[in-house]
Amino acid sequence: MTSEIEGNRAVWNRMFDWVNSRGGRKYPNETLVIWLLGYARSDHRDKRVLDIGCGWSQSLGLFLDEGFRYWGVDVTDRGFRSNPNVDAPALQDRAHWSVFTPPKLEFDDAFFTHVVSMEALHLNPTPSAFSAIVRECHRVLQPDGRFFATLIHPDYWYVKLGYVDWVGANTVRINARHPDVAARGAHCLVLKDDAEIRAYFSDFRSVSIGHEMRRFGEDREKVTSYWIVSATK
Ligand SMILES: C[S@@+](CC[C@H](N)C(=O)[O-])C[C@H]1O[C@@H](n2cnc3c(N)ncnc32)[C@H](O)[C@@H]1O
Repeated sequence: MTSEIEGNRAVWNRMFDWVNSRGGRKYPNETLVIWLLGYARSDHRDKRVLDIGCGWSQSLGLFLDEGFRYWGVDVTDRGFRSNPNVDAPALQDRAHWSVFTPPKLEFDDAFFTHVVSMEALHLNPTPSAFSAIVRECHRVLQPDGRFFATLIHPDYWYVKLGYVDWVGANTVRINARHPDVAARGAHCLVLKDDAEIRAYFSDFRSVSIGHEMRRFGEDREKVTSYWIVSATK
């Protein structure tokens, strides 16, 4: 594990103390719902999904409802440990969690029909770390398997407003101006255009790249902005 990835783990331990104090994250990422139900329906009889950087595993219910078996991995257990479903006997065969050390995904080749990752893969914040985790995503997917990820976009508010220092051509470190103290020190990979993303995902058979941004009226500067990467092996 590089020092940046180790540092990100420490940041997320702090962040989950806050998330857990607010009762966890109970609802799935809505872009994931749209992707899964609208774009990634599959005929696989044994549907298996890997959720990388699963955090609190807020998408668990969605995947179980859709007939998947679920595996969640994260660099810390502090998110998923607080989800009451983790110890639910009824889910023993259908949902599994583990802590992983990026980039190694401890699963056999072609084990999953779907690999997803919301707001997490960019926490492998150097070009070599990001390439390595993308290669692992590809390895553990079945041929025809589906991949989905959201990644920080350069318009994301804390990048645009100067709450980061650029420490590499595509790497930022959240600095001491960031209003959320817990987030300070985290490193993220910020990919700047479609071509950069395509280069990382060139082993996939097809790749589509979208973008979503959201601004709530009361805080006009706080724009969240993500790349949406959807791919087929
Ligand atoms: C913004 S949270 C997203 C959590 C969850 N996917 C969601 O949508 O709520 C980022 C997650 O990435 C995890 N993480 C930190 N470093 C990581 C890394 N190097 N690779 C994958 N995930 C990482 C954090 O522990 C945290 O759970």
